[in-house]
Amino acid sequence: MIRVGIVGVGTVGKSVVKILEKNKDIISARAGKEIVVVKGAVRDLNKKRDVDIELTDNPYEITDSKDIDIVVELMGGVDEAYKIVTRALENKKAVVTANKALLAYHRYELQHLAKDIPFEFEASVAGGIPIIKALRDGLSANHIEAIKGIMNGTCNYILTKMALEKVDFNSVLKEAQELGYAEADPTFDIDGYDAAHKLLILASIAYGIDAKPEDILIEGIRGINSLDFDFANEFGYSIKLLAIAKKIEQKVELRVHPVLIPKSQMIAKVDGVMNGISVIGDFVGETMYYGPGAGGNATASAVVSNIIDIARGGKCSPMLGFKRALESGVSLASFEDITTKYYIRVRVEDRAGILESIAKLFKEYKISIEYMMQKPFDKDGAALLLSTHRCIERDIQKVLKELYSREFVKEKPFMIRVEE
Ligand code: NAP
Ligand code: HSE
Repeated sequence: MIRVGIVGVGTVGKSVVKILEKNKDIISARAGKEIVVVKGAVRDLNKKRDVDIELTDNPYEITDSKDIDIVVELMGGVDEAYKIVTRALENKKAVVTANKALLAYHRYELQHLAKDIPFEFEASVAGGIPIIKALRDGLSANHIEAIKGIMNGTCNYILTKMALEKVDFNSVLKEAQELGYAEADPTFDIDGYDAAHKLLILASIAYGIDAKPEDILIEGIRGINSLDFDFANEFGYSIKLLAIAKKIEQKVELRVHPVLIPKSQMIAKVDGVMNGISVIGDFVGETMYYGPGAGGNATASAVVSNIIDIARGGKCSPMLGFKRALESGVSLASFEDITTKYYIRVRVEDRAGILESIAKLFKEYKISIEYMMQKPFDKDGAALLLSTHRCIERDIQKVLKELYSREFVKEKPFMIRVEE
């Protein structure tokens, strides 16, 4: 018998208890052992929750219990979770976590501490999609050329609703929270941090990059408005929040930001709360993974798969094994060197000569314009929406700064990168 203790019996924790109960037969057959939840830890013992397990408000009763073999950390947050996972590993307990924020900061230390003790985190990236197993096992023969993913269900839900139903940002965010998709602090979702945490985990497995969120480019979806969707529709693009890892020679670009992406690409068709990840390996070519990236049941499906792996005695290759890539000279690329196409929205006074002045500025930086449209904005203003051919990020940043300094520009220009 394998005895499980769960620290955090919230959205995901409750679903873990339910799957282990409801699918008990098939799970014990596949694990080769019975799996029993012994105890759960929560913050508030008085909260009503529809699962029937013994509860404590002291997580260390779980990490230190002689009657528990696997500690499942589902409380979220970084510092307290780090202490709890550390204590569990020091006590030689196997650990399963879905906590990408914790892993974004401490994955190498925890993996190092775990040594041969199982330390698993399938649910930390893309909820129910077994992307970590795919990268670690199924694609382990390949050099990974690129990973591009819609890895935040909340943002994808919001962007899909904004595109299809023209609803306002705040009311869709509220819906996503009620449906259990959003993080406790939803700014993590909409400002791109949650997707960045997941990207960092995948980048460790693919490239051995030991970066922190502060080291990479992270932009969220707050500034996007209906004009951007008008432009995207007109020229055949969807707007998505993408997490991108791209290897160019010995440099790896890691970035999270909204993109305009051609509607014909498979990833552009990933809508609602669903996640989709494209991984390109040098021998396999492009592979694509699709599924529910958030929500209690989908996430718990991945958590329980790790519990079953541990019960079987199976061990995935550790993350540290991949750190050698870093030692062999792979390093983070500077985001100023990104080369792509750009979409720019700029609100200007609607009068003769403005367009010429903007065109001259782009010419100065040898940036060529691909598409353009203009929409009346207010009484004497217009929104100029344009996209460029490929150019380098540092030039676009200079152009945006220059534009903002012109007296005919009415608000800070807004830019979205185009990923083709
Ligand atoms: P949640 O609903 O907020 O649940 C968190 C649970 O942890 C609650 O039961 C809470 O107790 C408990 N808790 C918090 N601090 C605690 C402490 N100091 N001591 C004891 N218990 C404590 O969160 P969730 O959505 O289930 O997410 C859990 C983890 O899974 C997070 O790391 C999250 O990023 C990750 N994840 C979530 C999803 C998703 O779709 N929700 C998907 C993938 C990964 P109370 O109930 O008493 O407040
Ligand atoms: N808040 C996350 C999301 C949960 O919206 O994708 C899954 O990690």
